[in-house]
Amino acid sequence: MNYTGFFRAELDALRDEGNYRVFADLERERGAFPKAVNRDGEEKRDVTIWCSNDYLGMGQHPDVLDAMHNALNTVGAGAGGTRNISGTTHHHVLLERELADLHGKDAALLFTSGYVSNWAALGTLAARIPNCLVLSDALNHASMIEGIRHSKADRQVWRHNDLEHLEELLAAQPLDRPKLIAFESVYSMDGDIAPIKEICDLADRYNAMTYLDEVHAVGLYGPHGGGVAEERGLMDRLTVIEGTLGKAFGVMGGYIAASTELCDFVRSFASGFIFTTALPPAVAAGAAASVRHLKASATERADQKRKVAEVRARLEAAGIPHIDNPSHIIPVMVGDPVKCKFLSDVLMRDHGIYIQPINYPTVPKGTERLRITPSPVHSAQDIDHLIAALEDLWGQCQLARIPMAAQ
Ligand SMILES: Cc1ncc(COP(=O)(O)O)c(C=O)c1O
Repeated sequence: MNYTGFFRAELDALRDEGNYRVFADLERERGAFPKAVNRDGEEKRDVTIWCSNDYLGMGQHPDVLDAMHNALNTVGAGAGGTRNISGTTHHHVLLERELADLHGKDAALLFTSGYVSNWAALGTLAARIPNCLVLSDALNHASMIEGIRHSKADRQVWRHNDLEHLEELLAAQPLDRPKLIAFESVYSMDGDIAPIKEICDLADRYNAMTYLDEVHAVGLYGPHGGGVAEERGLMDRLTVIEGTLGKAFGVMGGYIAASTELCDFVRSFASGFIFTTALPPAVAAGAAASVRHLKASATERADQKRKVAEVRARLEAAGIPHIDNPSHIIPVMVGDPVKCKFLSDVLMRDHGIYIQPINYPTVPKGTERLRITPSPVHSAQDIDHLIAALEDLWGQCQLARIPMAAQ
């Protein structure tokens, strides 16, 4: 086989479909986020980032940076081992306590990323609970799907957020069969939110465990940033809450929060937890500082809500089509991969605005979009500039507008 030829042909096919991914080479400026420098060969341009998952700008927060500097200066760089073999530092222990407290659970368990936490925790639970059936929402994240697949447990996919379908599947099973309902709170690409209470009601009725991914909600929702489950007073009804430290908390890492026994079970059996070097202590210290800050301060959440509402209203007024949802995620719909990439390129090149095109397989073909995530650190001028650029592009490219606004 001509291996290189094979790789080239596969990549060419991706390019032909408009789905080849090009990374933006960015240098964030400390203290100036969302401003950054984008390098393109020899060229450098100043850009404003409008698609970051550092939703609250915590990656630049002085408390977080101080905690990381202090930890680096006091305990050094790496953890030096897996959690079991010398890699558990006091910063890991403190962070796990902080996370358990955030979610009102007895325990929490850290992983190197949100992806790994889903893959390892779901994979282990589903594989090791005898005869477990996993009921997975159709729009669950790749990390959940891979974990469930890897477990080789029986799996049934319920239509996205469709309670009737979920109940139908649950009711068809013996009451005493172990079941695990896996779903997300805020779905990252459409920004819609699951009916968590109703899902918990079904779980109780049909004797199922619940596993909620709050990756796009922790830090952002609830009086202490505990996520949508905290906002709705439901944390105690969930068996497992999973989150990331890499998005609203601005650092890196993932975790589950659950009962002592469940966390100990995953700690003891999950290969994705056991056989990998622990997060650097400075990362754990920075994440703990971020969690602590957002537990006590609601300012960032309130500012973000205001910015999100303003961007939505301005898009609406300009007739730029976007999905209406109750979250902080604003998907501006384009519906074509080549156009989506083109718009993103022109925004970057001509307007200094960075919004990554979201194409297949992250979203279904035909639903390509620009996913905008306003943050408290975007200024009024940043918003004016964004809206003017989008209006200009929509006009130039004769893209469809929202019917009412176009009249
Ligand atoms: C719903 C969901 N879960 C999990 C993850 C993975 O989290 P992390 O980026 O910390 O690996 C993502 C990442 O985008 C996600 O969207």
